[in-house]
Amino acid sequence: MTDGNGVVSTGSTHRGVTEGDLPAQLLTELREITTRYPQARSALLPMLHLVQSYEGRVTARGIEACADLLGITAAEVSGVATFYTMYKRRPVGDYHVGVCTNTLCAVMGGDAIFERLKDHLDVGNDETTEDGKVTLEHVECNAACDYAPVVMVNWEFMDNQTPESATRLVDDLREGREVRSTRGPRICTWREAERVLAGFPDDLADEGPAGGPASLLGLQIARERGWRAPGDDTRGADTRAAQRSGVDAQTSMGRAPAEKHLEESGADTAGEDAGGKKEDS
Ligand code: FES
Repeated sequence: MTDGNGVVSTGSTHRGVTEGDLPAQLLTELREITTRYPQARSALLPMLHLVQSYEGRVTARGIEACADLLGITAAEVSGVATFYTMYKRRPVGDYHVGVCTNTLCAVMGGDAIFERLKDHLDVGNDETTEDGKVTLEHVECNAACDYAPVVMVNWEFMDNQTPESATRLVDDLREGREVRSTRGPRICTWREAERVLAGFPDDLADEGPAGGPASLLGLQIARERGWRAPGDDTRGADTRAAQRSGVDAQTSMGRAPAEKHLEESGADTAGEDAGGKKEDS
């Protein structure tokens, strides 16, 4: 049953548990996700992201809806939702700001950034500012250690941050100024990002830069020194294929995408240390 606001009353589930009112579109899209997998219950993780995109958190009625659609218990859904830290049981602000305080980021300044932001925003860990704009959380390594210290906004990278740049970042977010990831697209809201994680693309995936010099430095050094992974004869195959076709194996035809990117970006690592930072910065 749908009311004038597009809200559907699902009534009692097969377990006699009331889901409450969920947007009809949410239920439609939850069902759609279940059809993407050979085993329907494999859909649970993206389904929970979709619940968060509509509800702002994993709600009890969202848990009941997932359980009902997958034919599993609410306790099983709840067990997953409380295991993974990306699922939130309390409302998240418009922007989730995660400060990496894992080892490398911590020693490079992540701890100082986190302390500065707690003071500046007047919130503790996993708390949201009074205006509902920013939720601050310290997060574990995001595999971006070559750009430490890293701050994530809705899981987009903000590389090589300082307490000062991170403060400007959250101010820009709260004031509604456009913010772009240092290695990704413009920052959308947390709910919009959750929808993408549920498998509904926003077509921003190719916006902004991807790999940067710090990540590609190892590849460049390997190429300069002729290093190759043991047992990897990919280059040999490329060379043989190129010889057969009369094409120089060193043209971009035979190169991996990352190598092409390195060349196309004109990455100049001269004067940089292994972390990709200029010596005088
Ligand atoms: S330690 Fe921060 S991204 Fe790895």
